[in-house]
Amino acid sequence: MRVLVTGGAGFIGSHYVRTAVTETDDKITVLDALTYAGNLANLEPVSGGFEFVHGDICDAELLAHVVPGHDVVVNFAAESHVDRSIAGAAPFVRANVLGTQTLMQACLDAGVGKVVQVSTDEVYGSIDSGSWDESAPLRPRSPYSAAKAGGDMIALAYAVTHGLPVCVTRCGNNYGPYQYPEKVIPLFITNLLEGRKVPLYGDGGNVRDWIHVDDHCRAIRLVVDVGEPGEVYHVAGTAELTNLELTGKLLDALGAGWDMVERVPDRPGHDRRYSLDDAKLRALGYAPRVPFDEGLAATVRWYADNAAWWAPLKAAPS
Ligand SMILES: NC(=O)c1ccc[n+]([C@@H]2O[C@H](COP(=O)([O-])OP(=O)(O)OC[C@H]3O[C@@H](n4cnc5c(N)ncnc54)[C@H](O)[C@@H]3O)[C@@H](O)[C@H]2O)c1
Repeated sequence: MRVLVTGGAGFIGSHYVRTAVTETDDKITVLDALTYAGNLANLEPVSGGFEFVHGDICDAELLAHVVPGHDVVVNFAAESHVDRSIAGAAPFVRANVLGTQTLMQACLDAGVGKVVQVSTDEVYGSIDSGSWDESAPLRPRSPYSAAKAGGDMIALAYAVTHGLPVCVTRCGNNYGPYQYPEKVIPLFITNLLEGRKVPLYGDGGNVRDWIHVDDHCRAIRLVVDVGEPGEVYHVAGTAELTNLELTGKLLDALGAGWDMVERVPDRPGHDRRYSLDDAKLRALGYAPRVPFDEGLAATVRWYADNAAWWAPLKAAPS
């Protein structure tokens, strides 16, 4: 199977590529714009095992050359950090909406057999109790999640209007190796490794449902293989934690105390809680494998052992 992975030099996309190259016979092409979040070092362990194209999913001309010949396209390419979307939304609308539309059109023109649009639980907004199933209304509340919702809707519109065989996956918060150190888990781990304080938003009561990136990528692979075109699939996390609880676990893991926590004003429009019902995906045979405490301990070890990967990213202006 020839698979095009867009955004394959980012955190989740690179995990997908590393496992596809090492565990499957798939022939992989990575297309990535190498924004601040894209990093060829993420693909170093499988260098030589895939073809790389440096480019933008908004570039229709490039896509017309690159997409044909692929059986499957998995789209991870996006601007992904909520705080950056608050500082400036335009790149988010461009990559996450226009980029998705441009890619869907290229997939349609090329007759791609299966497309997976990788998305997020954040498109639903915030939920105080209970969980969303795939029929819940989209109520995004940040420029990031609004742009992702736009991308999801254009992808699904291509399924209905043009019969494009596209599935959308929506997942909770991922953690694991090679995550850019602006996101909370790698930011807190690397700050503590450097002896610096960690910034905790607001009252720390915001709840996230964490999933190891390997479980997310196995779920995407299952949707590639057996997902019904035009359908949305949830990939729920394995550990629902307040940011305070998460911070406590990270402090314990790094041998630090609460004096290393600096309270900072809350993020504007900060969603309180996300929660997905993943029964539909589980009916296809999916189950997560990585227990949170084991996955978190392995992730802490990975950052401790790989300062050469993250230190330059933290030092670089971006
Ligand atoms: N990180 C999470 O917790 C999480 C959870 C659910 C869903 N998602 C979704 O998964 C996808 C991947 O997330 P991530 O955390 O790996 O993000 P990331 O920011 O680490 O990586 C994004 C990648 O996309 C590339 N990219 C950005 N704009 C591009 C463009 N216009 N053309 C080509 N490449 C472009 C970047 O260079 C980078 O390599 C995103 O679509 C995100 O919305 C992420």
